[in-house]
Amino acid sequence: MADQDRFESIEEYILAHIDEEPELLRQMHREAHVKLLHPTMVSGHLQGRVLKMLVEMIRPRRVLEIGTYTGYAALCMAEGLADDAELHTIEIDDEMEDFIRSYFSRSPHGKQITLHMGDAHGIIPGFGDAYFDFVFLDANKREYGSLYEAALPKVKEGGFILADNTLWHGKILETPESNDWQTKGIIEFNGKLAVDNRVEKVILPLRDGLTLIRKK
Ligand SMILES: C[S@@+](CC[C@H](N)C(=O)[O-])C[C@H]1O[C@@H](n2cnc3c(N)ncnc32)[C@H](O)[C@@H]1O
Repeated sequence: MADQDRFESIEEYILAHIDEEPELLRQMHREAHVKLLHPTMVSGHLQGRVLKMLVEMIRPRRVLEIGTYTGYAALCMAEGLADDAELHTIEIDDEMEDFIRSYFSRSPHGKQITLHMGDAHGIIPGFGDAYFDFVFLDANKREYGSLYEAALPKVKEGGFILADNTLWHGKILETPESNDWQTKGIIEFNGKLAVDNRVEKVILPLRDGLTLIRKK
C-alpha cells in the first residue's frame, strides 16, 4: 500500500493506470511545450486515450474534427478508426500546417487523415449532409454555436458530436466580463444545447468538460 504514496494527484494516479501515451504523441506534446504559445490546448494523454476509445466504441466511417491545432487529438482518434474509415480535420491557423503535417506523415494512421486548412465555417458546408458519424468540436469557443449549427446537418441520425471545454475552467458559473467572448460563447452554447430537442446530451466533467451529443 505504501506504493500509493508515490502519486501526488488524482491525475498522476489516473495516468499511471491507463494505456500509455504513444511515443510519437509524447514527442509532439514536448515539442508543443517548447515551440508553441498555447500548448495547454493540446488534448493530452488522458483525453487522447478517451477519444481513441470513443472512436473504437462508435466505430465511425467518417470523423470530423473542428480545430486541429497540433493534430494530437486527430492522431488519437485515427488510432481508433477501422482501416477503411477516414478522418477530416480543419485548422484555420496556417502557421500550424507544417507542424501538423510533419506528425501526420510520421504516424501509421496519418494516411487516413485529411487536413483542411481554412475557416471551418467555409469548409463544413462543402461536405454532404449526414456525412459524418462523429464530430469533435474543439475550435474557437466564441464560435461554438455557429460551428455546431454548421456541423449538425452533416451528422447522421444517431451520430455523435463531442464538444470540448464546455466547463471552461469553471468560468461558466460566473458572470463573464463584458469583453470575455470565449466564456460568453461557451455559456451561450451550453444554454442553447440544454433546450435543443434535436439531440440528446450529457456533460462529462473530464478535464475541462466534454459534452457528448447524440443526434436523434
Ligand atoms: C483547442 S485547439 C484544438 C486542439 C486539438 N483539437 C487537440 O485536442 O489536440 C483549437 C484550434 O482551433 C483552431 N480554430 C479556431 N477557430 C477555427 C475555425 N473557425 N476554423 C478552423 N479552426 C479554428 C485554432 O486555430 C486552434 O488551433
